[in-house]
Amino acid sequence: MRRQYRGEGIDVGAMPPAPFPLFAGWFGEAAEAGLPEPNAMIVATATPDGRPSTRTVLLKDVDHDGFVFYTNYDSRKGTELTANPAVSLLFPWHAMRRQVIVTGCAERVSREQTADYFRSRPRGSRIGAWASEQSSVVPGREHLEKRYAEADAGFADIDDIPVPRFWGGFRVVPDTIEFWQGRENRMHDRLRYVREARPASTPGAHTAWRVERLSP
Ligand SMILES: Cc1cc2nc3c(=O)[nH]c(=O)nc-3n(C[C@H](O)[C@H](O)[C@H](O)COP(=O)(O)O)c2cc1C
Repeated sequence: MRRQYRGEGIDVGAMPPAPFPLFAGWFGEAAEAGLPEPNAMIVATATPDGRPSTRTVLLKDVDHDGFVFYTNYDSRKGTELTANPAVSLLFPWHAMRRQVIVTGCAERVSREQTADYFRSRPRGSRIGAWASEQSSVVPGREHLEKRYAEADAGFADIDDIPVPRFWGGFRVVPDTIEFWQGRENRMHDRLRYVREARPASTPGAHTAWRVERLSP
């Protein structure tokens, strides 16, 4: 299990002033390398009293405001984020000897953005969103299949299946983004972007980021 990490480190001189272009570059390289589901990320949430939980979700959009995924707002993660928006994401690109770790706060995306995305999903996934009371305990598989069949029948004559009110996107607005690159002798590169407070006097000004190196 113990592998030496060789290869290129992170070229600090070439790091952009904001983290998103670097993230886009690494994401593109993970996709090009043929990693299965390069947009799969671990989302960590916590209850207000600090009990953590994790699960995998798919990144669906990334822009200069943050990282967007879609889920059931009444699920465990949904209720935890509603009560406590502090969140962490982890992209486990092991085959590239890389990981990216984000910390920040989650906010709900607009209903319009959710509706646009929902419309792009296959019909079966849209019906599945209606049918699943995500994270609740169910008596058995038959219960799920019955709920799916009922939702399917209910929307039989409807092409444009609406978005369930309990379903939508979260945007994770980052405070920090760490880029981790495995290197020889466990002397890995860890470069972390940290958001600097946005000056209140300059609305619309670009967020400033500072970069710091962490010990491996
Ligand atoms: C590769 C992969 C991708 C997934 N993508 C999503 C997703 O985008 N949204 C989602 O709600 N659940 C997704 N899931 C299911 C979640 O991992 C999880 O089981 C579900 O959201 C319930 O989590 P919770 O009970 O902690 O809220 C995915 C699972 C895997 C393995």
